[in-house]
Amino acid sequence: MPARLARVRDVADLRRFVARWRRRGERVAFVPTMGALHAGHVSLMQQARRSARRVVVSIFVNPLQFGPHEDFSRYPRPAARDRRLLEDAGVDLLWQPTVSTIYPPGDRTRVQVEGLSDVLEGASRPGHYTGVATVVMRLLAAVQPDVLWLGQKDAQQALILERMCTDLLLPVQVRRGATVREPDGLALSSRNAYLTPRQRQQAVALSQGLAAGRALLVRGERSAARIVRAVRAEIACYPLMREDYVALVDARTLAPVRAVQGRILLAVAARIGRARLIDNLEWSPR
Ligand code: PAF
Repeated sequence: MPARLARVRDVADLRRFVARWRRRGERVAFVPTMGALHAGHVSLMQQARRSARRVVVSIFVNPLQFGPHEDFSRYPRPAARDRRLLEDAGVDLLWQPTVSTIYPPGDRTRVQVEGLSDVLEGASRPGHYTGVATVVMRLLAAVQPDVLWLGQKDAQQALILERMCTDLLLPVQVRRGATVREPDGLALSSRNAYLTPRQRQQAVALSQGLAAGRALLVRGERSAARIVRAVRAEIACYPLMREDYVALVDARTLAPVRAVQGRILLAVAARIGRARLIDNLEWSPR
């Protein structure tokens, strides 16, 4: 029998719940989401549950992280399904703030994590990570969790938010949950809902590309150019996919590397139909 899911909109109500738990000495974990929940989110919630007595999930489709021609208005919002999923996952509290709660009238404050925000996804989606860092900072200020859970699926986002928490001296531990995949390798994403059956078959190109890259790394290949070429060749086998980027970078700085030495991030992004999909592989020679 799943525990009862409480739901709040206001920050004051949210804080009352969290304060009550804190008085009892209960740890609080937080999973920020934009809804359209899938097994990847559920896996984060389960890990959050193991890391703390209480789990708070937010659902907020953040307008600030969408570009003018992106999918903000058609982003999936299956509210009833999301609630059932949260109940089944044993989440304690769902916070669904309004836009004016997160961005009060007259709002002028932005959080910018320099250097990490304007490469890879940030180069293709200008302003995206300022939108992400700004909203997550506000969500954290309201929830004040002990642990923040983020998905490895957007490794750049996780890195930026880890940096933000360190730089702003936030008393929160940031943890990453592994990417959850379909049996054929496709990384779970709310945006997979945009795919037609034919596009869905071809969307596997990204994970197949990464698999080709991993195979070379495991065999000892250390040339970034050769690894990137192999990933591109694999993606090119799927004619519906339009590559945005394939990049091999330092996993801590996101700077391009020529030869693999320390921990690297192999990141890919492509468009297919109305969807833009990302995936990545973190790998270290040791
Ligand atoms: O990854 C997401 O779903 C969003 O970028 C996040 C972290 C909830 C911020 O809006």
